[in-house]
Amino acid sequence: METNVRVIKMGHSQVTTHPVHQAMVFLGKRLEEKSGGKIRVKVYPNQQLGTERELLELLQIGSLGMTKVSAATLEAFSPEISVLGLPYLFRDDVHMNQVLEGQIGKELLLSAEKFWLRGLCFYDAGKRSFYSKTKPISSPEDLAGLKIRVQESKMAINMVRAMGGAPTPVAYGELYTALQQGIVDAAENNPPSFYNSRHYEVCKFYSIDEHTALPDVVLVSTKVWKELSPEEQIWLQEAANESAKYQAELWKEAVAEALREVQKAGVEISYPSKTPFFEKVGDVYSQLIQEQPQLATLIQRIQQTAQ
Ligand code: GCU
Repeated sequence: METNVRVIKMGHSQVTTHPVHQAMVFLGKRLEEKSGGKIRVKVYPNQQLGTERELLELLQIGSLGMTKVSAATLEAFSPEISVLGLPYLFRDDVHMNQVLEGQIGKELLLSAEKFWLRGLCFYDAGKRSFYSKTKPISSPEDLAGLKIRVQESKMAINMVRAMGGAPTPVAYGELYTALQQGIVDAAENNPPSFYNSRHYEVCKFYSIDEHTALPDVVLVSTKVWKELSPEEQIWLQEAANESAKYQAELWKEAVAEALREVQKAGVEISYPSKTPFFEKVGDVYSQLIQEQPQLATLIQRIQQTAQ
């Protein structure tokens, strides 16, 4: 074994069949190629190294090199990022890509750097919709009385509360059991995650209301980043950018496959009108601006981003 090989450990919460895992493996392959085998990435899936929150804490102290988390988890470390959790923030995918790939996206990726978390790129995490054990969620009224699993995110808690459900934070890796045991009645996620997590085995109703379009974020520990030479930093950034392109290609097919497969497994998919959901979430915007007035300009810049 060569001694001058740097191995960067990368932990995340998804299973190996999920497109984000495949993209991370691709990132490692490209980095290895670019560095002539001098830098390798070892990917640890399935929350093996901890929950998303714990992984970010490991990055902060430099005992883990890289991770991929949902922007919702990163929100606790960067107030600016919480804006991405606002329901119905983007008009459509084109608008979302303009924002994330432009100047605002760059600023957001670096917004947690003062906490030793450097964002390298976004991965597409599609749109999140509700799935439930007992009934389709056709309107916000159907959420009343249901315990809805949310990510460890204040925005997600506020959103579900505004829509009328009872938000219950549960770590992703514990959600299957939580659903099975009735600790929660419902949850929400994008189709590939609903499918790959096998939550569809327990939840037979998937209601595509697409309330949020929270991206995933690939991050490197600022401590590890600073140990890299300028040339190595460029390789890592390029490998991350290339993996994001690859992931975006995998994503579309993964969504189609997930919807097909869960339907085959007996899940009833419905497409409720988004208007009643949208009408409930005004308070989520005003609450965020009230608590963090400095974010009003960022929200406005996102809304005014032209296509
Ligand atoms: C998405 C996201 C994951 C996250 C999960 C969750 O699948 O890609 O990073 O763990 O949502 O709901 O916790």
